[in-house]
Amino acid sequence: MKLAEIQQALESELAGVHGEEALALVRARYVGKDGLITNLRKNVDFGAMTLEDKRSFGSGFNTLRDTAEGLLKAAAERIAATAHGEGLKFDFTLPSSDRRLGAIHPIVRTQIEIEDIFRSMGFTVYTGDEAVSEYENFDALNIPSDHPARDMQDTYWLENGMVLRTHTSSMQNRALRQLGAPLRAVFPGRCFRNEALDITHENTFYQLEGMMVGHDVSVANLIAVMRDFLSAVFRQEIEVRLRPGFFPFVEPGFELDFRTTLGGVRRWVELMPCGMIHPAVLRNGGLDPSRFSGFAFGLGLTRLAMLKHGVPDVRLFNKADLRVCQQFTATL
Ligand code: DAH
Repeated sequence: MKLAEIQQALESELAGVHGEEALALVRARYVGKDGLITNLRKNVDFGAMTLEDKRSFGSGFNTLRDTAEGLLKAAAERIAATAHGEGLKFDFTLPSSDRRLGAIHPIVRTQIEIEDIFRSMGFTVYTGDEAVSEYENFDALNIPSDHPARDMQDTYWLENGMVLRTHTSSMQNRALRQLGAPLRAVFPGRCFRNEALDITHENTFYQLEGMMVGHDVSVANLIAVMRDFLSAVFRQEIEVRLRPGFFPFVEPGFELDFRTTLGGVRRWVELMPCGMIHPAVLRNGGLDPSRFSGFAFGLGLTRLAMLKHGVPDVRLFNKADLRVCQQFTATL
C-alpha cells in the first residue's frame, strides 16, 4: 500500500468511528506495535537503499505517522465532546416526545370481548388453520363440488390442493371429530374470499363460528344463547328474531336479526346466519344424528366491529393506516 493510500484508508475508517472502543481498535491497527504504519519501517531493507532513498522514505514515513496521530487525536476529541454532551442541548432523563404506544386492532378487540362472553357461557375457544382441505371447507359441510354455494365462496387455492378457508365453518368437521359431543365451542379467525372489493366486501375478513351439540339441543337454545350473547355485547337487553335462510350445512337454516336503537333509530339489523346442524354434517363428523342435535352460527367479526364502532368502510381495517388503530387506544 502506498503511503497516501494508508492515510486515506485511515481517514475513511475514522469517519465511521463513534465510540472510544472502536477508536482504540483503529489506533492499534494503524500505529500500534503491529500496526500498518509501524510495520512500514520494519519491512524496509535499509542496507540496500541509497542515502537519497533512505531520506525520502524517512520523511514520507514521518509525515504519515504525524498526520495519523493528528487524525486520531481529532477523532478522540470529537468522540469525547459527543459523550459529554458538549454542543448538545439535551436532557437524557426526559421521556421522548414521540412515544408511540401500540393499540389493539378494533377487530381483535371485538374478538377478545366476544370470546370472553362465550367463555362465560361455558363455550371453549378453539383456533384452527387458515389453509384447510377442500373437504373441510366444502364437502364435509354438504357443499359438493357442483353446488352453487361454491360460486359464492370463490377463494384462493394452493398448489397442494388446500384452500384458504372461506369461512370458519371449516372448523366444524374437525371439531366434531376431535372433540365429539356434547360440545360447546367457538372458532374465531381469518377467512378469505376472492371478492370484488367495496365498502362492505374485503378479500380478508374475520368470522367467529359457534357450535353447540348435545342430546336435545333445539332452536330454543339457539335463540336463548344468541339473545344472552348479544345483550352482553351491546350491554342492553337485545331482542332477536329468526327468518328462514338457506345454507347447505344447516336444516332448518336462519338469518338472525337483532333489534337495536343504535344510531338513535329502533330497527332490526341482520346480523348472523345460523341453524340446526344438518344431519349429514353430524354424520361426517362421526356423530349419530338420531342421538345428537345441535346448532351452529357464523358471526361476521369484521361486520360486528363495523357496527359497534360505526366504521363505514370495511377496507379501512386492513389498510395499515395508523389513524384507524389510534382511535382505539384502550389496552386490555
Ligand atoms: N359459513 C357461512 C358463511 O360464511 C355462515 C354460516 C351460516 C355459518 C350458517 C353457520 C351457519 O354456522 O349455521 O357464509
